[in-house]
Amino acid sequence: MFTRILYPTDFSDCSEKALEYVKKLKEAGTSEVIVFHVIDERDIRTVSGSIVWLGETAEEYEEQVFSEMATSAGEQLSAIKEELVDAGMKTSVRLVRGIPFKEILRIDETDEDISLIVIGSHGKSNVKEMLLGSVSEKVIRKSKRPVLVVKR
Ligand SMILES: Nc1ncnc2c1ncn2[C@@H]1O[C@H](COP(=O)(O)OP(=O)(O)OP(=O)(O)O)[C@@H](O)[C@H]1O
Ligand SMILES: [Mg+2]
Repeated sequence: MFTRILYPTDFSDCSEKALEYVKKLKEAGTSEVIVFHVIDERDIRTVSGSIVWLGETAEEYEEQVFSEMATSAGEQLSAIKEELVDAGMKTSVRLVRGIPFKEILRIDETDEDISLIVIGSHGKSNVKEMLLGSVSEKVIRKSKRPVLVVKR
């Protein structure tokens, strides 16, 4: 039933908790997982905008920030992939740049074979008063697929 899972992660504690459920779903027939991370465009601008960088244009500096974020995210995705492969699941990783909820919904809409989305209720911000983070809220609201929300 839940053969192919989309697992979006921001590498937060809550996302890590969700990963444990992804592994457990093997017992429910899951054989394949797409591990998905979006480098938030707005974070790139926040970092580059907060620094006055002499000798480089803002664009050049943004590219540098992006490339550092991509390297770090790539390493984290590889570690998650290894864990899932060890757990006996066919795993692919995808890394894109954009607005997280939009990119998650884009892959959700274009890949028709996805049977379930597993997402954390919260992410890096983890604001105490919020019932859900803004990314999980939009994904739950807009996706047509079943969504498993793992609480923090
Ligand atoms: N950049 C991202 N790439 C992939 N998945 C993400 C990303 N950001 C969030 N997610 C997914 O959405 C879940 C909820 O995170 P969300 O960002 O909604 O919460 P938050 O960080 O606490 O709040 P907010 O971002 O609204 O300040 C995460 O556990 C993760 O599964
Ligand atoms: Mg967030």
